[in-house]
Amino acid sequence: MSNDILGLAIEAFFVKEDNTPIRIFINKNEEPEMFPSVFFRGYKKMLRYERLALKSSKGKVLDLGCAAGCHSLYLQNKGFEVTGVEVSEKSAKIARSRGVKTVINDDWRNLKLRNFDTVLVLMNGMGLADSPSELKLMFRKLKSFLSPIGSILIDSTDVTYAKADWPMLDSEYFGKVQFELKYKGKTQCFPWLFVDFETAVKTAKSVKLNVEVLERARNGHFLLRLSKMS
Ligand SMILES: C[S@@+](CC[C@H](N)C(=O)[O-])C[C@H]1O[C@@H](n2cnc3c(N)ncnc32)[C@H](O)[C@@H]1O
Repeated sequence: MSNDILGLAIEAFFVKEDNTPIRIFINKNEEPEMFPSVFFRGYKKMLRYERLALKSSKGKVLDLGCAAGCHSLYLQNKGFEVTGVEVSEKSAKIARSRGVKTVINDDWRNLKLRNFDTVLVLMNGMGLADSPSELKLMFRKLKSFLSPIGSILIDSTDVTYAKADWPMLDSEYFGKVQFELKYKGKTQCFPWLFVDFETAVKTAKSVKLNVEVLERARNGHFLLRLSKMS
């Protein structure tokens, strides 16, 4: 990955405790900056929905987009068998150095996995798909990773409220945005997807996943548990 800003920032924090903030622009609109230390948060600093997701995890766990491994490490320390997946080589390396025993350095799109009881995709996890149509593919793929009793714990945020601040780049879907990260003179652009609640539920049902709402907050954020229809 060229200009892997999250990977660079995670590495700098891990190696030198360098917490230089990452500037964030969504559709060119500047958002609050992010400190790399956030990727090293322990349970006490986690948000309610993350704690809920961790408490709801069971059996063999896949942590998709594990970054520095904060959720993987928490669950591994509780005795769970955890596999992290991370597209960034630097972040995957740091997750391993911090003690996550199994980390696959790859894009979820390339994976063929089976028999996971929990697939965690946290921190606006639905953004790992580029578009609503790819979200459907992602749900279908993650469903194929599940054991018969398995479930996917995944979150997103309805960003309807931000429509005025973020000039829309894509007429297909308002939650499809362009992220731009700036860090130590480097810039990285990538697409991201914020999914509204109704679209998330409809998409999950369209691939025959049962939907349970674990949390739906006033700020538009929500956490779903998706499981195979029996
Ligand atoms: C928003 S961060 C969330 C990190 C972590 N789950 C957390 O809560 O701290 C998203 C992570 O997913 C990784 N990622 C993005 N696209 C990916 C893909 N296609 N396959 C696997 N990992 C991906 C990024 O490198 C990044 O580390």
